[in-house]
Amino acid sequence: MILVTGGAGYVGSHLVMALLERGKDVIVFDSLELGHIEIIERLKKYGNLKFVQGNLMNLDDIRGVFLVNKNIEAVVHFAAYSQVAESVKNPQKYYYNNVYGTLNLLNAMMEFGVNKIVFSSTAATYGEPEYTPIDENHPQKPINPYGNSKLMVEKIMDDYDKAYGLKSVRLRYFNVAGADSEARIGEWHNPETHLIPNVLKATADKKFKMFGTDYNTKDGTCVRDYINVEDLAKAHILALDYLNNGGDTNYINLGTNDGNTVKEVFTACEEIKGVEIPLEVCPRRGGDPASLVADNKKAREVLGWIPQHDLDDCIKSAYEWEKVLGQIMH
Ligand SMILES: NC(=O)c1ccc[n+]([C@@H]2O[C@H](COP(=O)([O-])OP(=O)(O)OC[C@H]3O[C@@H](n4cnc5c(N)ncnc54)[C@H](O)[C@@H]3O)[C@@H](O)[C@H]2O)c1
Repeated sequence: MILVTGGAGYVGSHLVMALLERGKDVIVFDSLELGHIEIIERLKKYGNLKFVQGNLMNLDDIRGVFLVNKNIEAVVHFAAYSQVAESVKNPQKYYYNNVYGTLNLLNAMMEFGVNKIVFSSTAATYGEPEYTPIDENHPQKPINPYGNSKLMVEKIMDDYDKAYGLKSVRLRYFNVAGADSEARIGEWHNPETHLIPNVLKATADKKFKMFGTDYNTKDGTCVRDYINVEDLAKAHILALDYLNNGGDTNYINLGTNDGNTVKEVFTACEEIKGVEIPLEVCPRRGGDPASLVADNKKAREVLGWIPQHDLDDCIKSAYEWEKVLGQIMH
């Protein structure tokens, strides 16, 4: 049985779907502060899924999960706050939840003898890119509390390996995008900060804001590496296999090795939606590097992972999910 923290959220729910489709038993632990019970109800149709509502900030909540379920083989840890701007305004919230919450989880794992964890880390741990594509040896110098909180957890996991034998795979995601290809689940953030859903949701009253068109890139807009959420879920399954096969603690980028500009994403969204999307061009925002692209050689070599979906797949699946989400919300 696999324990998935944050499994009612965007990325976690796609891993849960992939695990259930492979016949795995899954427990989701989620506070539902940012996740959705409707997503859990949808997932329950596809296999043996237990749901526990609880908060990692309460040690007893997470201890209770291990106490009742003695057959947890490994943990995949998504539960965290992840909005960069909010983390700058309220670092305390981020350090408590992302670091202290993780310490409680690790504490419970150690107590109950579970020593394998796959952790959602982020490209934000690298900070301003010194070169691109970014490989795993790139210096980790986060430029905001969110990135710091994730890097702290990475370091804690290293120390726990040395002292207690905790085996972790830290997956450093670039920009996650898209939805389940059958539109059964998808991205549901409030507020939404990610590019593709925000372009798709734009209306005449709430135009899509394009921040910065004077970067040193091919069309002046920022370049990001959009990694499909189903491909990402697959990488987590491979990381679990890696740990089950005796793999040592590791850290791996998840991206496509390729980037797209904001303008390219915007144009592709217009083509897929078949309409003109209302646009407002704005000055640069602070803290947006011109280009963030992953070198994914290590994921290919260590996990045998090959992303299957391209940007159009991400946009098409996100668009189909937006329609379903519209129905759920009405
Ligand atoms: N989405 C991305 O592009 C991206 C990129 C890099 C890294 N990440 C990381 O991936 C993970 C998942 O991201 P997401 O976009 O799915 O986020 P999300 O907000 O959709 O999901 C996070 C889930 O964790 C739950 N949660 C948060 N704090 C909790 C706590 N203390 N106890 C119990 N549950 C708690 C929330 O209710 C939510 O369901 C995060 O750790 C994030 O930092 C995401």
